[in-house]
Amino acid sequence: MCGIVGYVGDQEALGVVMDGLRRLEYRGYDSAGVAILDGGLTVERRAGKLANLDKEVTAHPLTGTTGMGHTRWATHGAPTDRNAHPQTSCDGAVAVVHNGIIENFARLAADLEDRGHELASDTDTEVVAHLLEEQFTGDLAEAMRTVCRQLDGAFTLVALHRDAPGVVVGARRNSPLVVGAGDGEYFLASDVAAFIAHTRDAVELGQDQVVELRRDGYTVTDFAGGPVDVKAYHVDWDASAAEKSGYPYFMLKEIAEQPVAVASTLLGRFADNGNLMLDELRLDEDELRAVDKVFIVACGTAYHAGLIAKYAIEHWTRLPCEVEMASEFRYRDPVLDRATLVVVISQSGETMDTLMAVRHAREQAARVVAICNTNGSTIPRESDAVLYTRAGPEVGVAATKTFLTQITATYLLALYLAQVRGTMYGDEITDIVEQLQGAPALIQATLATVEPVRALARELAGAPAVLFLGRHVGYPVALEGALKLKELAYMHAEGFPAGELKHGPIALVEDGLPVVVVVPSPRGRNVLHGKMVSNIQEIRARGARTIVIAEDGDNDVTPYADSVIRVPQLPTLLAPLVTTVPLQVFACELALAKGHDVDQPRNLAKSVTVE
Ligand code: F6R
Repeated sequence: MCGIVGYVGDQEALGVVMDGLRRLEYRGYDSAGVAILDGGLTVERRAGKLANLDKEVTAHPLTGTTGMGHTRWATHGAPTDRNAHPQTSCDGAVAVVHNGIIENFARLAADLEDRGHELASDTDTEVVAHLLEEQFTGDLAEAMRTVCRQLDGAFTLVALHRDAPGVVVGARRNSPLVVGAGDGEYFLASDVAAFIAHTRDAVELGQDQVVELRRDGYTVTDFAGGPVDVKAYHVDWDASAAEKSGYPYFMLKEIAEQPVAVASTLLGRFADNGNLMLDELRLDEDELRAVDKVFIVACGTAYHAGLIAKYAIEHWTRLPCEVEMASEFRYRDPVLDRATLVVVISQSGETMDTLMAVRHAREQAARVVAICNTNGSTIPRESDAVLYTRAGPEVGVAATKTFLTQITATYLLALYLAQVRGTMYGDEITDIVEQLQGAPALIQATLATVEPVRALARELAGAPAVLFLGRHVGYPVALEGALKLKELAYMHAEGFPAGELKHGPIALVEDGLPVVVVVPSPRGRNVLHGKMVSNIQEIRARGARTIVIAEDGDNDVTPYADSVIRVPQLPTLLAPLVTTVPLQVFACELALAKGHDVDQPRNLAKSVTVE
């Protein structure tokens, strides 16, 4: 949430910063601003999407080779010009951009007002600008350290001072900030995407650190001013991966990239001895053998991936597995100990709810494995082991390709646990791995046949609501289909376990209501398939318009389906890799038919760094 860019070098900062903001706009798009240092300090900010700011700075360019920018997802204060970042001090000498929430801002603001400061916005951020104004005596990094020691909450801050030419200072606690190290130029950003067109050399900043960028280098300290070790890394994708590449929307491109994303996530994962190769492993096999319970903790779409993983983990490892929304996890005081394995799933690796769950789990001595798409992000850094999904950058706010790769990664982890614990034979594991390796081609085949799904979505654009039903792994797929429709098409959509319908939700079914049903394979548990066919008949008898997702060759459903969407055959547990795809396409096309921006749905932002 909120995208931040800082720059010092020999290019015009405005161009670099605006280009960086464009690449970070997925993190928030309700207002944007820039500050450029050039003898003086000039700030421009506008409510609304980045295009509004762009229009202004194109008409009246700001010159200077040191600058910063911000694209906002509002927490404190409405998305107006006044509340947009950068926020400035009374004398206009300091400008600050911020991502996160400063929890003690009300007290700090009252104290500042007592000392004669006039606060001009409703934001929590503005206090930092005034505090820096008070603390600055020529060294902006030192002022930042002093101010950070007074702040509670989560924050990434970047600041410029009129009297500190050629200096950009950043600080981070619980929110992301990365340094980009170019040749005679340095960058700060919430995400490497902001500077990837200039350099692929990045440096992770740790918790409670302050960085000072100058044209000749950078210095990182802790909040007390002590030296710290930082980790440099090379980003393994380039700017083209974060371009639309001819697609009108990132989401369309990312849906199309799913076969490659899943294939990359599988690539080279098993060593010659069959062991799964985790990217970072600070756990040994004895610890995994001692595990007696698994918790999967995640939010939103990643939580749905966790719900699917539960079926595989319990079936393959015989370990009890609970799945929990990260925002609820630590507050209910879950029973965790050294024998508990907590698997956290997060595309961004920065989701605050999930990060807090990681910390809570580790405090209780549980072992934490992260499944994550973002190299160097906080959640993998703080976990005991990491399995990266290699989906590449996902820019569309709605998760698509990362969902399929998250499911893939959980299958790998479940198989590895089964192998280490001896709950499956080697040839059984090999068989599933082979099926998984065939999945990218089947996802591709599914994508090749979705045109009728698009037509159906356009036809249903006027429907007041859509229900989604599933059983077994089809239930989380139904939840995901409903979530996609809610967030993209702003429609009422609910996912239910099909068997639960008769206990209440069936009252929602009325004449013409579209109900999407994810049908389990008849080759799996036959009883499950048969029950689902009965459920379809029940809703049809009550007037529902039935849209049935069924595997190739399943003709039992045909008599009761108003529309059938075919997917290729996969073993029951792996079927979500294909059944999800038409639901993504359905939601995307329906939202486009309603004229919505599918990359930047209203009120949302990617990477939710507040609780
Ligand atoms: C929905 C969506 C969100 C995220 C959730 C978790 O399309 O993208 O529900 O899945 O905010 O985000 P990560 O995976 O970054 O922790």
